[in-house]
Amino acid sequence: MILTSLGVSDVIGIIIFFYVAKFYYEYFTRPNPLPGSIPLPIIGNLLGIIYYGRGDFTVWYKILHQRHGDIFESYMGGFRRVIISRPDYIEKMMSPSTKNDYTLRVGNIPAFDELGISKSGMTLNSHIPTWKFNRGFFTKVILAPNFSKGIVNLIPTIYDELDKYWKEIGEDVPIDFSIWMHKFMTEIVFQAFVGLRVNGLKPYFNSIVESSKKKPTETNPIDKEIEDFPDITKEGLDNIGFFLTIPSLVRHTILRKKNIAALKNRKQTFDILTKVIETRRKEIKETSIDDKLRQDMLTLLITMNTERELIDQKSVDEEHSKPLNNDQIHQIILEAISGGIETSASTLCTMVYYLAHYPDVLTRLRQELDTIFGFEKDRQITVEDLSKMHYTEAVFNECTRLVNPSKTLPRVSTTKDIIAGYEWPANTLFEIYSDGIHRNPAFWKDPHKFNPDRFMETEPLRNTYLPFGGGARSCPGRKIAILEMKCLIFLIYRNFDITLVDMDAPMNLEYKFINMCTELKVKVRPRFPQ
Ligand code: HEM
Repeated sequence: MILTSLGVSDVIGIIIFFYVAKFYYEYFTRPNPLPGSIPLPIIGNLLGIIYYGRGDFTVWYKILHQRHGDIFESYMGGFRRVIISRPDYIEKMMSPSTKNDYTLRVGNIPAFDELGISKSGMTLNSHIPTWKFNRGFFTKVILAPNFSKGIVNLIPTIYDELDKYWKEIGEDVPIDFSIWMHKFMTEIVFQAFVGLRVNGLKPYFNSIVESSKKKPTETNPIDKEIEDFPDITKEGLDNIGFFLTIPSLVRHTILRKKNIAALKNRKQTFDILTKVIETRRKEIKETSIDDKLRQDMLTLLITMNTERELIDQKSVDEEHSKPLNNDQIHQIILEAISGGIETSASTLCTMVYYLAHYPDVLTRLRQELDTIFGFEKDRQITVEDLSKMHYTEAVFNECTRLVNPSKTLPRVSTTKDIIAGYEWPANTLFEIYSDGIHRNPAFWKDPHKFNPDRFMETEPLRNTYLPFGGGARSCPGRKIAILEMKCLIFLIYRNFDITLVDMDAPMNLEYKFINMCTELKVKVRPRFPQ
């Protein structure tokens, strides 16, 4: 009788009432209440993130960290997150064993199922068997000596093109170093991992110079689509942030169009990559067994466990002893593309920014380069040379300590556990706020000061320096990333003096799943007469 007399709006009102009551009942009875802001149903702390963090949840974390210390909580994407920033709290999470209870970076997030990434690839894969499988193959390629050697040989050839363009632009014209580095890293990653030229440097050069300087462009061997692929994968990375932070209800209503575009982007990425893999398979098949194959990651993966195997070291376990199918290769390659471009490009911007502000550091870095490489102009770079660049590595370390490309490291527990003195149920989502650890005066003397020497004098304390994360989910691209940085720093600073257009401006950074440098205006002056 009462029910029949209710209108639609009354029923909706009752549903909302019960939903809100349930939400706050669960909130006020949650295990281990921690300091943080009270969340709203559905959107959690989104308003705080938008208002105080200017849309960047890591700025929000910084504010909460200053207010509440090394353990606090926040609500985002429908989840409670326990944010921790002390090395002793994260000890178990940093265990390298793949059997530890923190091999999950994110738990079962329905939004990622929808995007098709929760059981695929590595970074956001929460299905441990496929993650292990993919990581095993990825690491095998990355650690193969001929792969690193290939990258060290490749970088100078791409660099020569960049060098030519910079000299043509002239020393008085400001250029955006962040875009150049993005194009450059894209070229390296595509050639080293997929064996394809994207040819992105020339169109960018053409887009910024007057018409008399423009150069004729050629199209890609596969087809035009591949030229757009870097932008498509970059958009894919942004979409992950969108799926991670925006609640499903909002994505499917107010932001429906963006949601559909993200799903379309994912399919497009898959289709292009499948085409690339198929084309390479065909090329390999048509290449005589006596002819040498190039050694990009795609070729190494296609030939793995076949008669054309290019990596000496044989797989010991049965799972890794079979040839890979297209889907498996696709998952591994996409990780290299999405993991290897923005992180490295942004880190190079940070290094250039700090070297411009600290001329003494630059002088010392150049002395190191001169000692190792001498003054012979066309001296070939070797992996051994790079291993001697200790001071350059210290500069890299200090830059990534202060401008951490990945400010937080999520981990989900698979069993109940005691962390920071509290007992937590299984499936608790922890976020290691590594940026907080990197700037904590308890572990770093003068933490806000730029001082590469700190890395020359002593090793950082355990779990206090985490630009590549740590434990079983640490960055498998670390070795390659450091090689790339050293190689490029050597080539750029041997040939150019770089000045910032605005010495007073802070770095332009935007957090989009990683901490990206969005603009760095510089002038580049050749050091030697042409
Ligand atoms: C300066 C450059 C780089 C930085 C600072 C960086 C940083 C990171 C960080 C912080 C993580 C998460 C680690 C964790 O949760 O403990 C990560 C994961 C990852 N990175 Fe990198 N990275 C860089 C370059 C690269 C490169 C060049 C590649 C590819 C060749 C790569 C591939 C990956 C992959 C695949 C993962 C996911 C690993 C997994 O979940 O098992 N990264 N990276």
